[in-house]
Amino acid sequence: MIMTSPPHLIKEGTTEVLVSTTKTSGKGPGVKEGGSFYNPSMELNRDLSILVMQWFLNQAKTHVHLLDGLAASGIRGLRYAHELTGDFDVALNDWEPDSFSLIEKNVKQSHAQNVTCFQKDLNALLSERRYHAIDVDPFGSPVYFIDSALRSIVVSALPYF
Ligand SMILES: C[S@@+](CC[C@H](N)C(=O)[O-])C[C@H]1O[C@@H](n2cnc3c(N)ncnc32)[C@H](O)[C@@H]1O
Repeated sequence: MIMTSPPHLIKEGTTEVLVSTTKTSGKGPGVKEGGSFYNPSMELNRDLSILVMQWFLNQAKTHVHLLDGLAASGIRGLRYAHELTGDFDVALNDWEPDSFSLIEKNVKQSHAQNVTCFQKDLNALLSERRYHAIDVDPFGSPVYFIDSALRSIVVSALPYF
């Protein structure tokens, strides 16, 4: 179980984001109760996502649409917006009201121009819009989102497609 506290400002990479502190075991897929979710032990995972997305942007031959599909506080997508360089925009999505409200606050305080927010079921969003790179970071298995993510992906941004 994970207990959450009121949002406060933290810095990850070079990005400042409001998060709810979470007390966790620090291991395994997260589960949570109340508030928006933030797991500090996933910082290295988010660092690696930044590296992969930067590689992707370096290869891309068109404007790139990135999606942080299960955004919680929005930290991963906001790190993309703040730390990546290239021709791209980022969408942040979370269906949970507490998380969506925190995402909106974080986007506002970041002054990022290339970020949009959605409060939708990720599978519904993926059936409506198409993205070049989709981050799916669920509690537990990602299997519920794989089919719709593969249908939503646009492969034409990379030179070898
Ligand atoms: C593990 S957290 C995401 C953590 C976040 N990516 C990070 O790096 O801090 C999973 C999030 O997915 C959201 N979520 C779960 N199922 C969803 C769905 N079907 N559509 C949209 N959001 C969903 C939850 O509200 C939760 O905030």
